[in-house]
Parts: sequence; structure tokens; C-alpha cells
Amino acid sequence: MELFFAALLGFALGSIPFGLILTRAAGLGDVRKIGSGSIGATNVLRTGNKGLAAATVLLDAAKAAVPVLVAGHFWPGTEGVAAVAAVAGHCFTPWLAFKGGKGFASAAGALLALAWPAMLACAAIWAITLYVSRISSVSSMVTVVASPLVAWGLGYPDAIPPLIAIAAIVLVQHRANIGRLMRGEEPKVGSSGKA
Ligand code: G3P
Repeated sequence: MELFFAALLGFALGSIPFGLILTRAAGLGDVRKIGSGSIGATNVLRTGNKGLAAATVLLDAAKAAVPVLVAGHFWPGTEGVAAVAAVAGHCFTPWLAFKGGKGFASAAGALLALAWPAMLACAAIWAITLYVSRISSVSSMVTVVASPLVAWGLGYPDAIPPLIAIAAIVLVQHRANIGRLMRGEEPKVGSSGKA
């Protein structure tokens, strides 16, 4: 029952489509109709509004960190389930016909709450990969794949199974990006062209 509550809480908070809510509130229309069609911060950035993109990152991360912290407080041992459910809620939100974003900012928030030192190490991996590639999806995918290894290396074995599950969800959500990368069509960060 505790696992169920943790999953429900994670999924419910994760399903709030902040990127869409913010862009609509700012009068920028439906972010799903531009760029990659994602409700995530990278696509919000394609509206040209950096502040909204930053707010989307923070809110998408917070909506995953909060249920992990709450689950850990009330139902110790259920944090990993809350983390996976939050990322799944973001990617397959019932408010948007079970579509949504790609889960990276939510994964970062979940990792922050699960094992913050691992989050710091992953932030460094993300920044270096983004600097080298200039492609958001590449840095996101490299970082989520590295995250279970980082958790293992830094001594957070309990975080490894949820991080593997989260990496799988995030990679599945990047399938269109993978196709574009293979065709050499994936846009660099800052490009407002069709993704
Ligand atoms: O974190 C999202 C990023 O990895 C890809 O976003 O909109 O370029 O598909 P997008």
C-alpha cells in the first residue's frame, strides 16, 4: 500500500505539464506545436523566452523532487518508486492524452532528492557533454545513461534500480531525437528551427 501511495503521489505531481501551462499563460500558444513538440524546457526555449525555459526546468525538477522527499518522509523505502512514477507522469501525462515531455529535468529533480552528490556529478557530466556537443538531447541521454554508474560509484546502491528505469523511460522518449541524430538533423541548442 505504501508503494502504491508513493507511486500515485509521484505520478500525480509529475503529470502537471508546467511547460505547456507557462507558455500558454505567457500568451505564447501551444508549445507542442513548435520544435520537437515536447513540453520540456528545451522546447520552451525555442519560443525564445529564456525565463520561461528556466522556470520550466525548475518546476519540472521540483515536481519530481517533492514526491521523492515526501515518500521518504512518510513511507521510507518508497523513494525510488516515487521517482520513477514522477518521471513517467511527466512523459505520459493523462492531461495531454498520455503524451508529454522527455523526462530529463524531472529525472534531475528526482536524482537530487534521491542522492544529491550523484546529482552534482551528473550535472557536471551534463554540462561537459552539452559544451562539447551543443545538442540538448545528446547531453540528456548521456547523463541519464551515466546516472546509475555515478550512483554506484558514489555509494548509492538503492538509487541504481530507479535510475535504470528512469534512463529507460528517458531514452524511449528520445527515440525521435535518436533518429534525427542519425540523420544529422538534430538542432543545436539555441536554434529555433524545426526539431
Ligand atoms: O531534455 C530534453 C532534451 O533532451 C530534448 O528536447 O525538445 O530537443 O527534443 P528536444
